[in-house]
Amino acid sequence: MAAHKLLLLPGDGIGPEVMGEVRRLLAFIEQKGLLSFEIEEDLVGGAAYDVHKVAISDGAMAKAHAADAILFGAVGGPQWDGVPYDARPEAGLLRLRKELMLFANLRPAICYPALAASSSLKPELVEGLDIMIVRELTGGVYFGEPKTITDLGNGQKRAIDTQVYDTYEIDRIARVAFDLARVRRNRVTSAEKRNVMKSGLLWNEVVTATHKDGFEDVTLDHMLADALGMQLVRAPKQFDVIVTDNLFGDLLSDVASMLTGSLGMLPSASLGAEDPVTGKRAAMYEPVHGSAPDIAGKGVANPLAMLASVAMALKYSLGRPDLADTLDKAISEVLADGLRTGDIYTDGATRVGTAEMGQAVVAKFETLL
Ligand code: NAI
Ligand code: MG
Repeated sequence: MAAHKLLLLPGDGIGPEVMGEVRRLLAFIEQKGLLSFEIEEDLVGGAAYDVHKVAISDGAMAKAHAADAILFGAVGGPQWDGVPYDARPEAGLLRLRKELMLFANLRPAICYPALAASSSLKPELVEGLDIMIVRELTGGVYFGEPKTITDLGNGQKRAIDTQVYDTYEIDRIARVAFDLARVRRNRVTSAEKRNVMKSGLLWNEVVTATHKDGFEDVTLDHMLADALGMQLVRAPKQFDVIVTDNLFGDLLSDVASMLTGSLGMLPSASLGAEDPVTGKRAAMYEPVHGSAPDIAGKGVANPLAMLASVAMALKYSLGRPDLADTLDKAISEVLADGLRTGDIYTDGATRVGTAEMGQAVVAKFETLL
């Protein structure tokens, strides 16, 4: 069995704590002979700055390029507030995204039945919710030129941002969405504003053409992005995969993720292009939450978002969707058993710390194999 190359980048704050639970899980998976790993580890964010005066070293970047999957904890914290802009902790994350060309950001919004009561929506609307937002991450209005603020000289200024999308950028993100739908519930909803935006017209046209190019087994719907926002809070379970641009994806993924209750529960993946020869694609998996400086070092952080990110790696990079499903199920059952870290604690539950939660997930995972 060929070993999968993993790079662990724990980062700052609670990053190293939740990454500790990843190591526990990976060790268990190897010990059971389910997969074999070649694990590298390096510094990122403030942890890298303290040693190298940069947010990620060239050496760590080289390891990132060689990895089959990168597992990233979290970066940032008030102690690095004064560092030079280019060396600030977030710069490490941005360099990884940019150099590895991670254009596809996958943010699942999963509502575990045991946590449905913590959602801002009625439990019956979100219980069992499992949707996937696929956000284009390297194009669109956040990057398009011109991007300027001009002083008009009459007491007025003019700000310009430019939404730019080329056919290839839309085509490749649509392919990611269709591929994902095939291992889910086989349905893609594409969102744009073709009624008022040229880029929306092109988005719609390209997604439709890509669909005809070998994905017709997947059901495709188009929805205006504002209408989709409304439907997300009205009846979120109607969706499977949603594919949209950088700006709409930023907004809609934040809305969708909060339907599920807690920040400590949400994983994400950022994927690059598939190499046409090797079939390999750069991929980084990370929790949505940050470094949580307020609870760092106390052993109380919720490791479930990080562990759910490992499940995404198993599914999309390591060729074991079966183990990913088992891991997701283990997380769900541990919650059903009443175990809660502080962030998701409710009366009557069993309060546990980071390590106990990680141990419980691994123990449950074993019973489900
Ligand atoms: P945050 O996500 O770190 O924390 C927000 C709140 O949620 C805090 O009260 C925290 O204790 C809690 N929380 C977050 N994750 C948790 C977990 N796994 N278990 C239990 N509680 C959890 O966001 P905040 O406070 O805005 O940012 C803190 C630092 O993290 C900043 O330096 C920020 O720039 C950075 N950050 C980094 C991200 C990344 O590495 N991808 C993403 C977001 C923020
Ligand atoms: Mg956002």
